[in-house]
Amino acid sequence: MERFSYEWVKFNKIVPDYEIQFLKWIHIFKPEDFKDKRILDAGCGMGRNSYWPLLYGAKEVVAFDHDHNIVNVARKNLSNFKNVKIYYQSIYRIIYKDYFDIAFSIGVIHHLQYPQKAITNLINSVKKNGTVLIWVYDKEGSKRIVEIVNFLRYFTSRLPLQIVDVLSYLITVFLWVYLKIIMQTHPYFQQISNFNFWHLRSIVFDQLIPKIANYWSREEVLALFKDKRLKNIKIFKVNNNSWTVTAQKK
Ligand SMILES: C[S@@+](CC[C@H](N)C(=O)[O-])C[C@H]1O[C@@H](n2cnc3c(N)ncnc32)[C@H](O)[C@@H]1O
Repeated sequence: MERFSYEWVKFNKIVPDYEIQFLKWIHIFKPEDFKDKRILDAGCGMGRNSYWPLLYGAKEVVAFDHDHNIVNVARKNLSNFKNVKIYYQSIYRIIYKDYFDIAFSIGVIHHLQYPQKAITNLINSVKKNGTVLIWVYDKEGSKRIVEIVNFLRYFTSRLPLQIVDVLSYLITVFLWVYLKIIMQTHPYFQQISNFNFWHLRSIVFDQLIPKIANYWSREEVLALFKDKRLKNIKIFKVNNNSWTVTAQKK
């Protein structure tokens, strides 16, 4: 996981674009739904997805990540808030039971070796009628792009991070020019064409580094939610290249 550490220590600032992304990823919720709620952000990275619920008036946010350097960055980014606890912890060992109103894990589950175990722990952590939400990659929306990224990642996930850093810069230059010149029709490309160069670069880098990156079909994602304790399971496509799944605990 030290590869994510390099990413979030380098791309460590919370920028307004992140709110647009966050609201898309969690789109069954509106900002006011977080007010006075207890929130879990599992695999929080540098804290960008905890930041918005805290601004929206959450009662308490617990955020954790399984990387010490990343936890330090999240602590710094969220230091203005009193009602946040940030831990070094694994999603496989969540200690909270029946506690949260909303437990989300954004961009994490598809990188795990045991995704089912992680979902079970998220379900354990929410109280009755609490919601579990995950956002993961979709393999159907942009098959060609997934093939290209998977091909590149085969090499880049094995290369030293400093080299991937330089490569990601070069790829981002091409992507940046392409997005500025060609009118985009795919919703995801439309969205990222408005992002600044730095943000685009962090996305490219994020795609190139992980050893595990699963792109799932609707059925594969829903299979992770076959738990008898759940009701109201909903799945949404986001940007035609990813899934948000939500479910409530009975
Ligand atoms: C792509 S990043 C997403 C971070 C954050 N959710 C976001 O959207 O900015 C994946 C994160 O999952 C974390 N992670 C990986 N395995 C984990 C585990 N077993 N428990 C908790 N976090 C983990 C990584 O350290 C990394 O910060």
